[in-house]
Amino acid sequence: MRYKNNYEQELKDIVKQKNLTYHIDTMGCQLNENDTLKYKGILESIGFKEESMENANLVLFNTCCIRENAENTLFGRLGALKKKKKTMKNVYIVVVGCMTQQKHILEKMKKSYPYTDIIFGTFSMFSLPEKLYNLLKNNKKSYEYVEDSMDILEDVPIKFDDKYKASVSIIYGCNNFCTYCIVPYVRGRERSREPEDILNDIKKLAQNGYKEIMLLGQNVNSYGNDFKDKKYTFAMLLEDIEKIDGIEIIRFISPHPKDFKDDVIKVIGKSKKIARQIHLPLQSGNDNVLSKMNRKYTKKDFLELVDKLKNADSSISFSTDIIVGFPGETEEEFLDTLDVVEKVKFDQIYMFIYSKRNGTVAATMEDKVSYEEKVERLERLKNLYEGYLPENNKNMIGKIYKVLVEGKSKNNDNLYTGRTSQNKVVVFEGAEDMVGKIKNIKITSEHLWYLKGEIV
Ligand code: 5AD
Ligand code: SF4
Repeated sequence: MRYKNNYEQELKDIVKQKNLTYHIDTMGCQLNENDTLKYKGILESIGFKEESMENANLVLFNTCCIRENAENTLFGRLGALKKKKKTMKNVYIVVVGCMTQQKHILEKMKKSYPYTDIIFGTFSMFSLPEKLYNLLKNNKKSYEYVEDSMDILEDVPIKFDDKYKASVSIIYGCNNFCTYCIVPYVRGRERSREPEDILNDIKKLAQNGYKEIMLLGQNVNSYGNDFKDKKYTFAMLLEDIEKIDGIEIIRFISPHPKDFKDDVIKVIGKSKKIARQIHLPLQSGNDNVLSKMNRKYTKKDFLELVDKLKNADSSISFSTDIIVGFPGETEEEFLDTLDVVEKVKFDQIYMFIYSKRNGTVAATMEDKVSYEEKVERLERLKNLYEGYLPENNKNMIGKIYKVLVEGKSKNNDNLYTGRTSQNKVVVFEGAEDMVGKIKNIKITSEHLWYLKGEIV
């Protein structure tokens, strides 16, 4: 499905006449952030200018429902906007995304937040212009619930905030139904974008000076599994992106450990561009918990996968997601998670306390672990991680890394920052003309959350 705005001229006229501005508040993951860039693209294509939340006419909330606190955040912020509607002219509130893809939330919002003007979920981006037209021209609200869709929306205008790094979605939806996770219920089934659409997007980005590409999907390594007319896999996509001149760094999130096949490992091993950082969501290190989570791999499988990747290139660094306090997780089972962390020594860990999501299978499991216990486990995981991290960083001292120079350091005007292929932040003395270029930098010292280095 190709994006088309049938109301473009009328909307441009209204936006110009009322001098309208917008602000987008994004919650959640990088897939939501990527959607936000498209919402920005759509709004700017009809003349909206970006503004702060305080001053903007149209505030769009792109919501997340992965954990309960994401939902509470939205209700808090919506409440605060009610006042703004009374004190400022031409204020419009739009709520979209994963949270409003749940029917009961949509119903709750209609009742409790009737001053919201447009609400829809994850499948209606293409109809934003029509809904805006109804709102701005005819003062008509739209609340829409689309249960499911296999459509892929192409040609959406997109506004990147960054000049050298861009994200590109390659596959939407998820078929895995991990028992704790709400995503498959709000993002639909897996559907892969056509290779030509992806490659054309990336070629255009390269022509516009972009150096680093982040490929996005709930499960990137099932890319292509749904193609009926051809065999085209994630490994083949990576190889084709490698050939695009100008692109120097390729990253991807998130692969599923169960689908990380040897062909991809081989491509990574010989690639000059694929980042030496792999995000491998562990979730738990215990076989019983992994099975209850429906993850379809064991502790041993996971550790073997890490070894295989290390054999492909020993400089690969790992990041992960871990959930503590899954329903019924025992102390012993939790120790298995710590054991994997100890063995792999992930450079980055996104750690979460299990949050019950209604509608998922895990929500029906008995949960005897107290909240205090869960917090305490999270604390122990954090301590373990912060304990070994300096050692990981120290191993980098004296070595030379390619770094994409991102800009001036926030705290010191003479210093510049960038990231190594391993996604480690490096601070160094540089110059403005280096921004957006790849430099060789020798690491000189470590400071837990960043490294210092010098250009060689
Ligand atoms: N509770 C806590 N964390 C969750 N995640 C997904 N669902 C839940 C949940 N119900 C975490 C997983 C996933 C990451 C994006 O969010 O670790 O990898
Ligand atoms: Fe959720 Fe599992 Fe799908 Fe990831 S793979 S989005 S954790 S169901």
